[in-house]
Amino acid sequence: MRLLSIASAALVLHSISAQQILDVWTTTQDKGSLLKGTQPSTSINFGTPGTAGNADISVDDSKVYQTIYGFGATLTDSSAKLFDGLKSNNSDEYWKLMDYMFNVTDGANSGALSYIRVSIGASDFSDTEYSWDDTNNDTTLAKFSADAAPSYLFSTLTDILSINSNIMIHALPWSAPGWMKDPVGMNGGTLASGNEDLLANYLLKALQAFKSKDIPIFSIAIQAGPLQINEPENADGSLPSTDMPYDTEATVGKSLRGLMNDNGFTDVKLIGFEHNWNHADAYPVQLMDAAADSFDGVSFHCYGDGSVYQDQANFTSKYPDKEVFFTECSGTIGSDWWSDIKSNTDKITIGSLEYGSSSAMIWNLALDSSGGPKLPGADSCNGGCRGVVTINSDGTWTANQEFYALGQAAKAIVPKDPNGPYGKRIGVSVSGGQDWALRVGAYKTERVSSSDPARYSLVVLNWNDGSSDGTVNSTIEFNGKQAAYSFPVGVTTLSWYA
Ligand SMILES: *[C@@H]1O[C@H](CO)[C@@H](O)[C@H](O)[C@H]1NC(C)=O
Ligand SMILES: *[C@@H]1O[C@H](CO)[C@@H](O)[C@H](O)[C@H]1NC(C)=O
Ligand SMILES: *[C@@H]1O[C@H](CO)[C@@H](O)[C@H](O)[C@H]1NC(C)=O
Ligand SMILES: *[C@@H]1O[C@H](CO)[C@@H](O)[C@H](O)[C@H]1NC(C)=O
Ligand SMILES: *[C@@H]1O[C@H](CO)[C@@H](O)[C@H](O)[C@H]1NC(C)=O
Repeated sequence: MRLLSIASAALVLHSISAQQILDVWTTTQDKGSLLKGTQPSTSINFGTPGTAGNADISVDDSKVYQTIYGFGATLTDSSAKLFDGLKSNNSDEYWKLMDYMFNVTDGANSGALSYIRVSIGASDFSDTEYSWDDTNNDTTLAKFSADAAPSYLFSTLTDILSINSNIMIHALPWSAPGWMKDPVGMNGGTLASGNEDLLANYLLKALQAFKSKDIPIFSIAIQAGPLQINEPENADGSLPSTDMPYDTEATVGKSLRGLMNDNGFTDVKLIGFEHNWNHADAYPVQLMDAAADSFDGVSFHCYGDGSVYQDQANFTSKYPDKEVFFTECSGTIGSDWWSDIKSNTDKITIGSLEYGSSSAMIWNLALDSSGGPKLPGADSCNGGCRGVVTINSDGTWTANQEFYALGQAAKAIVPKDPNGPYGKRIGVSVSGGQDWALRVGAYKTERVSSSDPARYSLVVLNWNDGSSDGTVNSTIEFNGKQAAYSFPVGVTTLSWYA
């Protein structure tokens, strides 16, 4: 097929009639396909438009939106501990899983995750409470040490980088060192007034520590969930958290941005907010009003009463030039596999992107089958959080519904060329009698060589699951040509070149 795509690339110069759908990845409701890659047995060509299908997808590449940096989850201390355990118990399975998660080679049998989030210090998914400087009143940060973190955090990051050296890493604390806070302690409280520069210096040291371990940081945030005090599970102070009003975050951000620029971290993005959709019209907007020059953008989570992904517009309408990231939503143990695929695809891997996000991340990358290990006393997710993958103590692992939702989306934007650019979102709409049955995102991935044809990809959720055969006979309209495809109930990612 590689030869064929090169041949069609040459033809593109003269005619677009050679456009064909060459790669199809499918995850079906019946689990008959789980992120399964196929190349159509009979070629699916774009040709002269005929009758439109029951759903007619119109791709509009005159509308080009944000770059999609990718999909992933948080490598919590707990996730890293499980990966490390798997590595020592069953190293073959460990490397198989690493490859299955992080191999971004076009066409690889993998979820192609390219964005991960790590905690600077403890979160609710750590064995113990700690920060990277737990020496009381160490205002010069002389005792700062990243080695307060378990060594398996860094060894796992190093192994991930060996699979994808371009992986984008987002780092942030769940709490400042307890002694910087009021009252003193990791769980709850606020940053003590006057410690804004100190926290900025602590975060600069964290960037320097990652660098000294050859772990490149793509973006940093100041505080995970700065409005945690509003959340029932945090109000009892069972986990590392800080209530940080926007004006405090603005002050820390201005200080940190200056320190980053003065210390060789000009390219690292500074991301604000990191909390739920339902506050999109307030905190992130106020933060930008106070410190827009210091922040590259803001990030959102899915939790909170009445939160919907469309809320992101309450921020993007005011700050259209700032970047938006979606950084956390957890699976919960016991929920329905297909309902989760639908919800994650509708709201997160397609929906959040439609409203400006350049990433979509789930909470823990890996947990065990009972949602552990976690910080003693933390009551996260009530019945238990589910990781993107489950790692069992017998040396086996399972990819969960979150993995397939992320992987189906990642296949559309992963670089076509090694070290090539990631895809950008482009315009798309659906019409026809069954337009309601498909939820569609469209993306264009440019090539390293401008003479190579760009890759166009669709991520299509067919959620017509009410009848025995919910297949939707569809047409795809692209630059005056049309192709036909029947989408099974599930998620399909397909690509062509032009
Ligand atoms: C290795 O497997 C054993 C036995 O199933 C399990 O108890 C242990 O937690 C695993 N080791 C690590 C380091 O995870
Ligand atoms: C990624 O997948 C490609 C294609 O299957 C394979 O050739 C390559 O060895 C894999 N790379 C890594 C680092 O596992
Ligand atoms: C840290 O500083 C505070 C405020 O100055 C003081 O009350 C406290 O005793 C100091 N703690 C230690 C361990 O030195
Ligand atoms: C925020 O966004 C939601 C969803 O689009 C909308 O219903 C709501 O009116 C917006 N709120 C404000 C304050 O703009
Ligand atoms: C979809 O197309 C197939 C093959 O042409 C046909 O058998 C089927 O009835 C069509 N389904 C619908 C709902 O139009």
